[in-house]
Amino acid sequence: MPQKNRDHFYQGWLYHFLVDPLLRRVHRLVRSQVKPGSTLIDIGCGTGELLFSLADVGSELVGVETSKRMWSFADRQARTRGFNNVQILFGDGAKLENFSAGSFDYAIACMVLHEMEASQRLPVLKEMQRLAPHVILVDYRVPSPANLAAAMCRFIERLAGRRHFRNYASFINNGGLLPLCETLSVSVQKELTFYSRCLHLVKTQ
Ligand SMILES: C[S@@+](CC[C@H](N)C(=O)[O-])C[C@H]1O[C@@H](n2cnc3c(N)ncnc32)[C@H](O)[C@@H]1O
Repeated sequence: MPQKNRDHFYQGWLYHFLVDPLLRRVHRLVRSQVKPGSTLIDIGCGTGELLFSLADVGSELVGVETSKRMWSFADRQARTRGFNNVQILFGDGAKLENFSAGSFDYAIACMVLHEMEASQRLPVLKEMQRLAPHVILVDYRVPSPANLAAAMCRFIERLAGRRHFRNYASFINNGGLLPLCETLSVSVQKELTFYSRCLHLVKTQ
């Protein structure tokens, strides 16, 4: 099925050099929540850095990316860096019918839900719930704290373009991760707040 072009100017190597280093700590925190030997799917895997950081704890890892630029960057990185247990797929996290229910131990979406259209968030989460018993979500914490770090995050989201910022604003205005989990009656097993209270990790069961 043809995919809409969802590329942005900053996706690919620019994201890799500017944003990936900022997310290293976030990726370490996600890693601390994953049991060794697990299988996992990472929705909106971006440049693949989260997956690569999990490659030695996971047995089989799949990344899904809707941006062609991000997908081809991540796919190339996986091959050139020799991550043989990592597969990067081009596609939409809401439409993963090629995988049967419970195909993975974990479904992860790290800094993804805030940047998609509001109407896409529940379908993506439903698909994650279908694919894995454990869902790990990381995104902006709502309410945002009144500090410099939160102002910086808001500024960065604004730099990413008008549509991106509109999606970010709708994520914040709709209350962030917890209302999405409540709508799907997902029980939250663990919550962590970090990065000067700007970010929020939610693990569900
Ligand atoms: C901010 S990046 C985060 C990258 C990565 N998760 C990380 O932690 O480094 C969000 C990515 O989600 C992707 N994305 C947004 N909506 C998606 C969807 N419905 N399915 C798959 N990927 C999606 C975007 O193309 C973007 O590359």
